[in-house]
Amino acid sequence: MFRSHTCGELRNSDIGKEVILCGWVQRSRDLGGMTFIDLRDRYGLTQLAFNMESNAPMCEAAREVSREYVIKVHGTVKERESKNLKMPTGEIEIIVTKLEVLNAAITPPFTIEENTDGGDDIRMKYRYLDLRRSSVRANLELRHRMAIETRNYLDKQLFLEVETPVLIKSTPEGARDFVVPSRMNQGQFYALPQSPQTFKQLLMVAGFDRYYQIVKCFRDEDLRADRQPEFTQIDCEMSFIEREDILQTFEGLVRHLFKTVKGIDIGELPRMTYADAMKYYGCDKPDTRFEMRFCELNEVVKGKGFKVFDDAELVVGICAKGCAEYSRKQTDELIEFVKRPQVGANGIVYAKIGADGSIKSTVDKFYSTEELNKWADVFNAEPGDLLMIMAGEPNKTRKALNELRLEMGTRLGLRNKDKYQCLWVVDFPLLEYSEDASRFFAMHHPFTSPLMEDISLLDTDPGMIRANAYDMVINGVEVGGGEYSHLQQRIAEKMFSILGFTDEEAQAQFGFLMTAFEYGAPPHGGIAFGFDRLCSLFGGSESIRDFIAFPKNNSGRDVMIDAPSTIHADQLKELGINTTHSD
Ligand code: AMO
Repeated sequence: MFRSHTCGELRNSDIGKEVILCGWVQRSRDLGGMTFIDLRDRYGLTQLAFNMESNAPMCEAAREVSREYVIKVHGTVKERESKNLKMPTGEIEIIVTKLEVLNAAITPPFTIEENTDGGDDIRMKYRYLDLRRSSVRANLELRHRMAIETRNYLDKQLFLEVETPVLIKSTPEGARDFVVPSRMNQGQFYALPQSPQTFKQLLMVAGFDRYYQIVKCFRDEDLRADRQPEFTQIDCEMSFIEREDILQTFEGLVRHLFKTVKGIDIGELPRMTYADAMKYYGCDKPDTRFEMRFCELNEVVKGKGFKVFDDAELVVGICAKGCAEYSRKQTDELIEFVKRPQVGANGIVYAKIGADGSIKSTVDKFYSTEELNKWADVFNAEPGDLLMIMAGEPNKTRKALNELRLEMGTRLGLRNKDKYQCLWVVDFPLLEYSEDASRFFAMHHPFTSPLMEDISLLDTDPGMIRANAYDMVINGVEVGGGEYSHLQQRIAEKMFSILGFTDEEAQAQFGFLMTAFEYGAPPHGGIAFGFDRLCSLFGGSESIRDFIAFPKNNSGRDVMIDAPSTIHADQLKELGINTTHSD
């Protein structure tokens, strides 16, 4: 037996036992008469004690080991004199009788403890050391539990896990592809999948009526805290269902995860249309942990000589409860916040409701008290509230007010990470118009079904068509999205023509799928969850990197293995690639 116990399991009830432990030296303290070592492994920390008086050679041996040495000790479990009740093993220590150094270690570049002195870059370069820290390890343990519970739930629901290929074909829709040159087919490239979308639809044609896969996806897009170039989806698809079946089944998955992993009952998920999400929150993934819904003021502000409001297509605001006492400094700070290029607004018009109910605004000279009271009515404002109003082009203004709303939510402590509000956002637009490309793009994919009641708009006003598509949003994060697929040839042809595909292009891109659909396709639909995002939400962090064992940095680099990197000229030649950027 190499070891008898782990470093996380010994308790009072083990006192007197002879044990063998292995692990890394987290820290050692030499107090003269006594030396203590905190021994760490995946399961926790155990204190080793060495007494100069009773066993001087052993104590001297202990003084020789440094941080991160890998050691093996034999010893006896003893009750500690000064207990540390914050540690699970804090009531005992091991009186060591034999110490073996299994491997020495050079001095680590940062302290490998709960609170580390290592900055982000250095921890990423030595990620294997960072992973020794219990907080980082706990994140991966959470990820493991989430994956197991996902599989448990889906397995019970008769879903079958099927692997789909990683070397596939590039498609022009969606994000940018990562491509892989083919040696055997020179001048040709595979693409890495942005998602297994087409394969899961082919699996439906193949009759695997409930499919899932916890799968790596690749997207060459700009990175943020919640985006990595390679990330993981829980990808799912079902046949012989209606949209309602999909929503119920996957609401069930998320409910199961909350219950089993966090012990939280999230209840039924509310639903909101995309149109309402945009109208009341200015974004398609509203954080519904707090209200502060948008109120439109066009009807009560126009025509009074205040040019900013008179010229604006939309005047809209939020009401911050109890913020009427904000100082000039605070309100100016918020104006600076919205003027930043990322938010892009011109400013904020404020109105404060005093304790006595009187209202004062920054544009008092244009509006009578009576008129200002009408503003307060629109917001249902109460004494002590602060109204914050923006004006301009509708989309831009809503987007900026959304940023301000989130900022206010944060400032007012309304975005508690231990509180969860889940939501379905439904009825997304089918198409998105790109001004740059002067054409429509499919918001999801070209086979997304329009809502039946909107089908007639295909010929007249495609931009207004709503899709049978839905996203799951938790605390303002889009954790999953999917849609129901249509199978009618007529709709497919129409969609391709709206998307600007010629028949030949549609055939070249999607011919295999359209052909497959001709061989008997069942009605089907699905969803994919961003697994990393789900894990980070459950773990209470905004960054998905913390939940990925070996993530990329914000420039898409793995600084530990130094990738991407140039490749040798011979390799390039073999692939038929001519470039001057090689070694
Ligand atoms: P979609 O593109 O919405 O849908 O992706 C599904 C979910 O994946 C997560 N996600 C990401 N997570 C981390 N890093 C990224 N770069 C990243 N991009 C997306 C999000 C998102 O909600 N095939 C469709 C699903 C379907 O229609 O069934 C799809 O991929 O949480």
